[in-house]
Amino acid sequence: MTLDLAVLVSGSGSNLQAVIDRIESGALDARLRLVLSNKPQAYGLERARKHGVPALCLEHGSFPDREAFDAEMVRLIREHGADTVAMAGFMRMVTPRFLSAFPGRVVNIHPALLPSFPGVHGQRDAADYGVRFSGCTVHFVDEKMDNGPIIIQAVVPAYPGDDGKSLGARILELEHRIYPQALQWLAQGRLTVSGRKVLLANEGQAPTVALPSGAMVNPPLEPGF
Ligand code: GAR
Repeated sequence: MTLDLAVLVSGSGSNLQAVIDRIESGALDARLRLVLSNKPQAYGLERARKHGVPALCLEHGSFPDREAFDAEMVRLIREHGADTVAMAGFMRMVTPRFLSAFPGRVVNIHPALLPSFPGVHGQRDAADYGVRFSGCTVHFVDEKMDNGPIIIQAVVPAYPGDDGKSLGARILELEHRIYPQALQWLAQGRLTVSGRKVLLANEGQAPTVALPSGAMVNPPLEPGF
């Protein structure tokens, strides 16, 4: 079934762009109904408008509290006909009330191998720690930060010379592959959550698409991603 999608951004929106590109290539069966930002200068808003997607900014500072901000986001998302929400570099926690408006249909991407290095500096924290592998995670969102059941992860090598920027660039390339793929599985109704685990119906066993050197993705990406 076609996803009716809203994407939440706070910054550059390169993950949003990856979603737009996969919709336009036909690999991702979604209609992008709305892009919302909490920052007026977010380049993601411009990316959306360039593709004819409604793009709005809600400045959280002008709301009395989180509840009021999230209630307005819910209203706008529904008004634009979306029932699924992808957080893509949206640097704010959402409230339980927001989550209950779209049960099982809010997902996030995080630039580390959760549960390691949650928070706003996942790439830098991993590089500073000296890990030899890091990566990215797409997960369902629950009320805790960077915590919900994991849909897909990608692994990339990390090196002693890495900083957050160099490691982050290696990770970002994979973010742009796994996020549209996870959304396509959601569109296809192939994801079931059982406790902490996400089951993917008809999960492939072997890689079917080429990956950058040293990278791994699990479950494997399918053609088109
Ligand atoms: C991405 O690396 C995303 O994983 C990260 O912010 C970046 C946004 O880039 N998100 C988080 O750190 C959430 N904790 P983008 O705006 O170019 O998609």
